[in-house]
Amino acid sequence: MTPSTEQQITAQVIERIAESTDPRLRRIMTSLISHLHQFVRDVELTEAEWFKAIDFLTRTGQKCSAERQEFILLSDVLGISMLVDAINHRQPQGVTETTVFGPFYSGEQPLHPDGASILKRAEPAPALIVEGAVRSSRGQPLGEALVEIWQVDANGLYDVQDAAMPKGHMRGSFRTRADGKFSLMTIAPVTYSIPTDGPVGELLNALGREAMRPAHIHFMISAPGHERLVTHIFTAGDPYLGNDAVFGVKRSLVRSPHRGRLEVDFVLKASGA
Ligand code: BEZ
Ligand code: FE
Repeated sequence: MTPSTEQQITAQVIERIAESTDPRLRRIMTSLISHLHQFVRDVELTEAEWFKAIDFLTRTGQKCSAERQEFILLSDVLGISMLVDAINHRQPQGVTETTVFGPFYSGEQPLHPDGASILKRAEPAPALIVEGAVRSSRGQPLGEALVEIWQVDANGLYDVQDAAMPKGHMRGSFRTRADGKFSLMTIAPVTYSIPTDGPVGELLNALGREAMRPAHIHFMISAPGHERLVTHIFTAGDPYLGNDAVFGVKRSLVRSPHRGRLEVDFVLKASGA
């Protein structure tokens, strides 16, 4: 039967999935259909706008490759990634806050010895020594934790964005010492733009939004018996701390380097804590 009103179509679609056997999928799709239909009614979407949206999503998919994830970028600039992060990581007091994963992690890198540099070529930027400590929310230092780090070069690009950059440049994996400490050498991170040469860039432009991220270093830290921590350390004083294109800044993650050294400490949530 053809739905006769703008409300009936929503009820009909939801009814059609009422018998689906996966309860979580049913819940998600029921809510998604209700909200999407309500959104279409709310803005009275025109057919031209609907075609434009389909074209936008098609081009977003076409922009994706092994090195480029335009859908993650879209989720990031719409604040969805940070909302999912917030819901999934309601950290108890004292545990290091999480932030956006981003699209530029490129898999686990070979282990570097403690204190090594993550540069594979020289960069025209001030050197930075990172001295870190990792401990459990139960208090003890976490030796043998895996610390993965990635960062843009002095031009504000990741290795996967620039074919001329040596692969693995500005990335590395480290293991904490028995006392939970680690150190490495890098350069002071720079403020940079997220990619704007795709549909997401067009959207930001159309909305009059900036595409900059405040200077930061990405960290992902894993230790047995603990929740994996995905976070950044941001540089104090960066002009974009209050206007991050992907809403990733949390005050507790901002640090001031001092005389070329950056001290960072991470507290991982013990599983079940
Ligand atoms: C990043 O920090 O690498 C990043 C995060 C979200 C979108 C784009 C880049
Ligand atoms: Fe980044």
